[in-house]
Amino acid sequence: MGGNGLHRKARRGAQTFDAVVVGGGIVGLSTAYYLSERRGMRVAVLDRGRLGRGATWAAAGMLASQCEVEEAGPFLTFALAGRALYDRLAPALRDETGVDIGLRRSGALRVAFTEEERERLKRHAAEQRRWALDARWLEADEVRRLAPALAPGVLGGVYFPGDGHVDSRRLAAALAAACARRGVALLEHTEVTGWVVEPRQAQGPAAHPGGRDAGSAHPPGARRALGGGSGTASEGRVIGVATAAGELHAGAVVLAGGSWSGLLAAQLGVDLPVKPVRGEVVALRAVDVPLDTIVFAKGTCYLVPKADGRLLAGATQVDDGFRNVPTLGGLGALARAAETLAPPLAAAEVEDYWSGLRPGTADGLPVLGPVPGWAGLYVAAGHFRNGILLGPLSGMIVARLIQGEPVPFNWRAFGLEGRFGPADAPAAALAAAADR
Ligand code: GLY
Repeated sequence: MGGNGLHRKARRGAQTFDAVVVGGGIVGLSTAYYLSERRGMRVAVLDRGRLGRGATWAAAGMLASQCEVEEAGPFLTFALAGRALYDRLAPALRDETGVDIGLRRSGALRVAFTEEERERLKRHAAEQRRWALDARWLEADEVRRLAPALAPGVLGGVYFPGDGHVDSRRLAAALAAACARRGVALLEHTEVTGWVVEPRQAQGPAAHPGGRDAGSAHPPGARRALGGGSGTASEGRVIGVATAAGELHAGAVVLAGGSWSGLLAAQLGVDLPVKPVRGEVVALRAVDVPLDTIVFAKGTCYLVPKADGRLLAGATQVDDGFRNVPTLGGLGALARAAETLAPPLAAAEVEDYWSGLRPGTADGLPVLGPVPGWAGLYVAAGHFRNGILLGPLSGMIVARLIQGEPVPFNWRAFGLEGRFGPADAPAAALAAAADR
């Protein structure tokens, strides 16, 4: 790498794939899973650590499309479709890998502790019923019939029978196992150190869906490796990634790097404002709180009863950079919130406690699809609180875009086009890349 962070020369013997996926969490693994449905497609997944050990590992696995999404709009549609996909994905993964991902249609109960929240929840339920969704308002006594351990301070709630949860760790294991069976190269501890790019050729290889054709200020075919610079000039094509172990070249590269996605995109001059938001989760055992359903209290905590008898209580939401550790303060906050929700939880045994970094975006919505200014590059990132819910569908959408198949879903509502930074930044980054 040169002093300005740019690779001067590609290493010899680069491996070549049809698609390289950067990030081995739920989104990246799902992308590879759907890409590899097409026989003969050579796919690689790279992760800076171990597969599925980032935000995916930390997730409580909620499929709370209706519970967490208050307004009807593209995001609700996305969330509902993401939830529905699990009805096919769970049995498909079990058949292919033998792994049960623990899908439970437990329902979710969102409760109110204040009059204001009670009114808001009633509106939330009414809005969803307008769209023929099942959202049942329950008065306080009905809430306690459903969940007797909840505190007397609960003033009512909405029950969403269609919501549920999965075991996110088993899900990642199942996706990785399916990918491995299909011959996907799964490369752990393989950090991307830069991008391999070339100027876009107007008469060059077929444009990827969503990419833009553009003239070039550079000689056709002049490849370079870009590791983080800026400058001025034209659009380009991403043809691979650089790692300490060498370059991997591919017709399509997918950026699915969770909280790290913004840093990687910045090397290409792409404004992808994703930042880590820490979530801490505690696993409780010996819980004298009979619960069949998820209980969710906005802004304080949620409880997810898992099939193995544990009750997960989550999650904090802490803006603390890339510091990914469970803290005493977080545990205390969760303990207070859980006990306020269900007082008998004070006696529960703390079995485990962990943290993860949710990838939060500047506007709170995920980012999906081709990256403007960079042919061959796609993004699937920024799923914030909904990575498990939306990860498989996001992966499927990006896979179908790469495969040039129609996508019967309004992914453009989450596209990068015109969403964040200036459109000329990718061209500036390309100009700064060193010629080979
Ligand atoms: N969706 C729950 C969370 O991110 O904590």
